[in-house]
Amino acid sequence: MIVPEHIAIIMDGNGRWAEARNLPRIAGHQRGVETVRVIVEVCHGLGVRYLTLYAFSSENWQRPSAEVGGLMELLGYFLEAMLPEMMEKGIQLRVIGDLARLPERARRTVTDAVTQTAENRAMTLVLALSYGSRGELSNACRTLAKEVLDGGLSVEDITEELFASRLDTAGLPDPDLLIRTSGEMRISNFLLWQLAYAELYFTEICWPDFTADELNKALVEFSRRERRFGLTGAQLEKSRF
Ligand code: FPP
Repeated sequence: MIVPEHIAIIMDGNGRWAEARNLPRIAGHQRGVETVRVIVEVCHGLGVRYLTLYAFSSENWQRPSAEVGGLMELLGYFLEAMLPEMMEKGIQLRVIGDLARLPERARRTVTDAVTQTAENRAMTLVLALSYGSRGELSNACRTLAKEVLDGGLSVEDITEELFASRLDTAGLPDPDLLIRTSGEMRISNFLLWQLAYAELYFTEICWPDFTADELNKALVEFSRRERRFGLTGAQLEKSRF
């Protein structure tokens, strides 16, 4: 089986999982956090180098305030509970998105965990928090435009690599595999630039029910795919020798 270097996941279906059981939506998110712990451990065990999780989108701020508050609390709980394990396993935490919008307490927990884990090298866990790809792309354009206006950069020097280095994900390899749970087949403003050549995998399973076995199914499917990156199959075959 081929283990992707970078897996990105849209963890969808917590709300529906809870509603189907007559539970409050937050109960789905609580179970979702347990799934996050399991999947982080499994990915670490498999040797996945980067795992990016869409934990909270820039659009999620529009949800009822009780749900937003509950998710922020869960984030703090998750990080505090995970920190010893992240240190032990060598997992670095990185965050993409507009952290400034997070409530003070959640923001502090996140930045503390990022600082504490900064030297860890076995795996990088990237949490997308208050993240939206269009916002990220327009920020990068704004940054580059300012650099040009300030005279430090000429328009001709703007390459794909330079552009990528102004994104929140600067320095991270692009995801090889995108998984979305709960049967929705959308990208939902997630890593629009970075997913250019990712293999997409959709499953009906809701995030709280996503297990190591389900991840394994995704990896088996990923291993079967031929990633051509715009080349023909024959060219690809030749480049292997
Ligand atoms: C989508 O389910 C999930 C979210 C908006 C949040 C994902 C958050 C977690 C898994 C828990 C918190 C994460 C961390 C890392 C602490 P949904 O609510 O959109 O479900 P629905 O589409 O069924 O309503």
